[in-house]
Amino acid sequence: MKIIAVAMTKGGVGKTTTAVNLSHGLALQGFRVLLVDADTQGQCAKALGTEFDLTLTEVLEGTAPVVEALTKARPNLDLIAADHHLSRAALTIARREQDGHRVLAEALAPVRDRYDYIVIDAAPGFDAIAVNVLGCAHDVVAPAALTPAAMAGVLDFVRHVGSVGRHNANLNLRFLLPTFLDQRARQSGEMLSQLRERFGSKMCAPIRVNVDLAESFGCQQSIFEYAPRSRGAEDYQRFIAQVLVDSPANAAGAEPKCMAV
Ligand SMILES: Nc1ncnc2c1ncn2[C@@H]1O[C@H](COP(=O)(O)OP(=O)(O)O)[C@@H](O)[C@H]1O
Ligand SMILES: [Mg+2]
Repeated sequence: MKIIAVAMTKGGVGKTTTAVNLSHGLALQGFRVLLVDADTQGQCAKALGTEFDLTLTEVLEGTAPVVEALTKARPNLDLIAADHHLSRAALTIARREQDGHRVLAEALAPVRDRYDYIVIDAAPGFDAIAVNVLGCAHDVVAPAALTPAAMAGVLDFVRHVGSVGRHNANLNLRFLLPTFLDQRARQSGEMLSQLRERFGSKMCAPIRVNVDLAESFGCQQSIFEYAPRSRGAEDYQRFIAQVLVDSPANAAGAEPKCMAV
């Protein structure tokens, strides 16, 4: 079992697109996958067209058992959805005096062994939920949009992962995933080489700008359903192949080791 957080402090960089397509791509390959939406915008259920009753809020607040919040989104793919009430859970967690960074890890514990992969779509920013997402993950996928001025945001995020790493000894910023590559734009290429220089082997092959990725979202389908022969599907397929090699489901085994604060 492997918990992969898709996280970056900046919004609009392709986190939800990556989380949805990574989870569905893994599910299509036969892995049992749980997608957890940890963003108040609740885009995962919209992206997959999944109806839901309970959300991550009730799970984090302890008012519903986690099994009751699991919704079947596709064969092999379950979802725990989110909505704007999640900000309430963030405040509740922030007020906890002890182990505030462990609430999500503890909430997911009863169902974690049902899955090969748990993929968490994190919200932008540094709130209590974002800290919890990093507190329970094994590996982090950090999408970095290839736009001017994005580098500062990426470096900020790396520092943030480093500071949360004090609580979670297993946390690994494993994949830096460049997104919105525009092969005609010089700045895209420049940013890509800067990232390569800084992140070396953590760098994944980039996801190109592809209108099918944006459209699939509106059609409530993953890219593998909406346009399986598109560039978007090709790029995400290549990324998933790298995840399977570098972050195999059976290699993590144990629960992330959280250190005493
Ligand atoms: N590679 C891409 N090419 C074109 N549009 C994309 C691509 N990746 C994401 N998008 C679109 O860009 C917007 C922001 O992406 P999203 O995944 O929601 O980012 P985040 O979750 O980081 O805020 C969405 O409308 C999405 O459909
Ligand atoms: Mg999002």
